[in-house]
Amino acid sequence: KTETLLSILKSQPVMPVLIIERVEDAVPLARALAAGGLKAIEVTLRTPVALEAIRAIAEGSPDTLVGAGTILSPEDYEAAVKAGSKFIVSPGATPALFAAAKASDVPFLPGTSSASEIMLAREAGLRVVKFFPAEQSGGAPFLKAISSPIADMKFCPTGGISLKNANDYLSLPNVVCVGGSWVAPKDMVVAGDWAGITKLAAEAAALR
Ligand code: 3PG
Repeated sequence: KTETLLSILKSQPVMPVLIIERVEDAVPLARALAAGGLKAIEVTLRTPVALEAIRAIAEGSPDTLVGAGTILSPEDYEAAVKAGSKFIVSPGATPALFAAAKASDVPFLPGTSSASEIMLAREAGLRVVKFFPAEQSGGAPFLKAISSPIADMKFCPTGGISLKNANDYLSLPNVVCVGGSWVAPKDMVVAGDWAGITKLAAEAAALR
């Protein structure tokens, strides 16, 4: 599962983090991002239509590899997998979620922001985690500092990252990709500016 997850995360420098308010936006948004080179996307369970959006993308955007974010419980994990999620992302790292991950074929990317949380994920058998919220938790210097004592862990930092600071992270050897919402701004989604989003995605895909 680590290999599957790593191959997904290494396939592009930026993982779009999406909040989808209207289910009809889901497929065109996923297609627009894929057209720009961002095929793996994270749909967060922060809106009532999120699971429906994941289902729609899994069926309607064959180029996309859709994952679920904001997974807070084993119930969320199961529902997201049922909807067709290919990977699962959480803001945190809890024993209940580690157990759900162990029982599932779908790989888990837990959120961590301390040495102990990273070590808990490591003890659960994971070798790649999210670093969240990245900018607020010490940013790139944190990941640089942790690379010596905890040398066998890889990170996907997320939170406060944009085109401006993405390379601070992407230049670190223990970073596999960054996550961010900047490639799908709310106003562009509302306006259905799919060409504009493809352009933002292409810009992000060219990083590193
Ligand atoms: C999130 O979970 O909201 C992600 O970390 C995205 O953060 P961003 O909006 O700062 O990119």
